Amino acid sequence: MSPTFVGRWHGFWLEALRANAVASERDARVSAVSKTIRQMIQIALMATGAVLILQFHASGGVMIGATIIGSRAVSPIELLTGSWKSIIAAGLARDRLNQLLSGAPQREQGMPLPAPKGHVKVTAVSYAVTSTRRTVLSNVAFELLPGEFLGVIGPSASGKSTLGRLLVGAWPCTAGAVRLDGANIYSWPRAALGRFIGYLPQDVELFAGTVRDNIARMVEGDPDGVVRAAQLAHAHEMILALPHGYETEIGENGHWLSGGQSQRIGLARALYGDPRYIVLDEPNSNLDGVGEQALAQTLAELKSMAVTVVIIAHRPSVLMGVDKILVLNPNGGVAAYGPTQDVMPQFVGSAGGDAAKAGRSLATATPERAQG
Ligand SMILES: Nc1ncnc2c1ncn2[C@@H]1O[C@H](COP(=O)(O)OP(=O)(O)O)[C@@H](O)[C@H]1O
Ligand SMILES: [Mg+2]
Repeated sequence: MSPTFVGRWHGFWLEALRANAVASERDARVSAVSKTIRQMIQIALMATGAVLILQFHASGGVMIGATIIGSRAVSPIELLTGSWKSIIAAGLARDRLNQLLSGAPQREQGMPLPAPKGHVKVTAVSYAVTSTRRTVLSNVAFELLPGEFLGVIGPSASGKSTLGRLLVGAWPCTAGAVRLDGANIYSWPRAALGRFIGYLPQDVELFAGTVRDNIARMVEGDPDGVVRAAQLAHAHEMILALPHGYETEIGENGHWLSGGQSQRIGLARALYGDPRYIVLDEPNSNLDGVGEQALAQTLAELKSMAVTVVIIAHRPSVLMGVDKILVLNPNGGVAAYGPTQDVMPQFVGSAGGDAAKAGRSLATATPERAQG
């Protein structure tokens, strides 16, 4: 694609040059006009002074003084023309800030609460994009007791990742609420909540720093906690095999790591601290067979620790041990929800009964099942 990009860049470059030439021509014209006016004022002052001296109304000193005062008087105007660009830039910057702040209203934070147990209740949650008013999710509801696992499946762009962000309180719900131990998760004080929840986004989003910094969520984490989280994520051996182990720099956005490595370090970050509630957005999308087995073991350990887990998945292989399944339809509504043994069979034998209705959505979400 390089010739095309060079061509496009060349076009932009020419346009920039042309705009630059027009701007500097205007600039020269404006400064020429202001300079002319200033010089004419100076000449007028001098001429008036000369006439007054010739008529013996004033002395030479008065004329010089008047010229100096006159040039002082016009200099603020000249300064203003010179700094007009900055004044306009400041106005534009203020508008941008106002726009940004009105788009992201300040989060109301409640008072600190005791450590949650992991009881998640989602009541009639909807989400609409503010700018376009398009509804991404509508009327999603479910309840998880501490230690219960939920699998969320659905076709691409059905709102699974959006639901994940609402479930950890990263975004506010347009309607309804996500409650953790009865309290709205969005208004739970963020710094206090972080210790008790874990979130693995779909694109893992690691930060520039060492593996240790990333697992400890960019604070000076205690080494024991970091290793414990890595071991729980079955990433300990993989991390030790990196050039400097836990102190390996991973580069901007973790781009010195492979996709699978990033995902396993992201999982360790989600497990850091004392999580009671974890949301994993397609945790197996970059994993090989070994990685998937490790993930299954991690989930089994979380089950024994009675951690509440929501797994968003495209491939059903990680959904083996979940207690409940939520199926989203392409419009972000709930196509099916219930205990795994009730929901799964509807979609496995896709020829029978109810399946034709909701099965269309699941057929895209779970190709292996649909074929199998
Ligand atoms: N902030 C946003 N602005 C505009 N559209 C969004 C935003 N977030 C999500 N969407 C839209 O919502 C839909 C669902 O996205 P997503 O939750 O990522 O789907 P999934 O994870 O199921 O593939 C997509 O059509 C996407 O374009
Ligand atoms: Mg997604």
